[in-house]
Amino acid sequence: MAADAEAAAARTLCGFVRTLLVLVLELPALIAESLRVEMAGKTQTVLLNHNAIISCKVLGSLPLNIKNVGVIWSRKNPVDGTDVTVFELYGDHREAFRSGASVSLQGLAKGDASLQLPEVQLSEAGEYRCKVVNTPDRGQGTVLLKVVACPVSSLSVEEAKQRLLCEASGFYPKNINITWCKWSQENSQCVNISENVTTNAAIANEDNTFNVTSSLKLKRSLEHNVTYQCRVEHVFLCTPGRRNITMPENGKDLPGGVPHSSPGGGIM
Ligand SMILES: *[C@@H]1O[C@H](CO)[C@@H](O)[C@H](O)[C@H]1NC(C)=O
Ligand SMILES: *[C@@H]1O[C@H](CO)[C@@H](O)[C@H](O)[C@H]1NC(C)=O
Ligand SMILES: *[C@@H]1O[C@H](CO)[C@@H](O)[C@H](O)[C@H]1NC(C)=O
Ligand SMILES: *[C@@H]1O[C@H](CO)[C@@H](O)[C@H](O)[C@H]1NC(C)=O
Ligand SMILES: *[C@@H]1O[C@H](CO)[C@@H](O)[C@H](O)[C@H]1NC(C)=O
Ligand SMILES: *[C@@H]1O[C@H](CO)[C@@H](O)[C@H](O)[C@H]1NC(C)=O
Repeated sequence: MAADAEAAAARTLCGFVRTLLVLVLELPALIAESLRVEMAGKTQTVLLNHNAIISCKVLGSLPLNIKNVGVIWSRKNPVDGTDVTVFELYGDHREAFRSGASVSLQGLAKGDASLQLPEVQLSEAGEYRCKVVNTPDRGQGTVLLKVVACPVSSLSVEEAKQRLLCEASGFYPKNINITWCKWSQENSQCVNISENVTTNAAIANEDNTFNVTSSLKLKRSLEHNVTYQCRVEHVFLCTPGRRNITMPENGKDLPGGVPHSSPGGGIM
């Protein structure tokens, strides 16, 4: 009996504390924000499909007693400007409104209220707000999350069309430059090429990233022992954006790309 009553009382208290936390968290900014919260800066850039960690650190007296701490992460709806909750935590309550969104409890005790978003998508970019309450103090911070994707580049020979093909795929944002240059025995520097270069308009993939190809038409008589380079310039490069291809010395096979096909078309 006494134990039951105690449990009931504890539940009531728990419910009360939760209501209080929600109230404090949701209260308009009437009361002074006494808790200092630090974000990664004005913007934070993360890679598409990676586990994004949006930083939010509580400054001041640590460790925190997480039983008294509430955290609400929200994202501003780009259409109507309202804050849409992504994740919330208070008392024993933890709820993710985006699958996999979470805040580590161990981290939180040390003042780290950072939000984890596994496999972040381009559509999830935008303004995120981190609201923290450590009863009776509260504070918040915002950050603009940018999601980018770096191009994957390749350079190959299209022998049939006598051209080199440079492809950059899966990048975001759309702005990209592909340029060509060549090394030859006479030049120790890579000399820019603009003639006979065709760069197509970027095409969109289903995940909103882009692909682009650029081709360089070669002279009818293949030049030998010349190295061509295709350079990909993008705000975000994960690997060096330069690819080389060296035309073989006279009488040798072409490097990489399309294999030689015999006129008979037989299988080798
Ligand atoms: C090919 O070029 C390299 C460097 O440009 C040079 O060292 C080499 O001697 C050349 N080979 C031939 C067969 O011309
Ligand atoms: C060659 O092209 C690169 C890339 O567009 C550029 O940065 C460089 O200034 C150019 N060099 C010359 C000599 O035009
Ligand atoms: C461009 O292509 C034309 C036709 O194939 C060729 O005559 C010309 O020499 C090429 N220009 C350069 C700089 O390779
Ligand atoms: C973009 O390039 C990737 C890799 O080459 C390819 O798998 C994909 O089909 C391309 N997308 C489009 C729309 O062509
Ligand atoms: C592409 O080249 C232009 C002109 O050189 C430059 O202004 C722009 O910043 C470049 N873009 C990227 C993504 O490197
Ligand atoms: C491309 O080839 C040139 C000349 O052989 C060399 O100096 C340069 O390091 C090479 N770059 C890459 C990315 O392989």
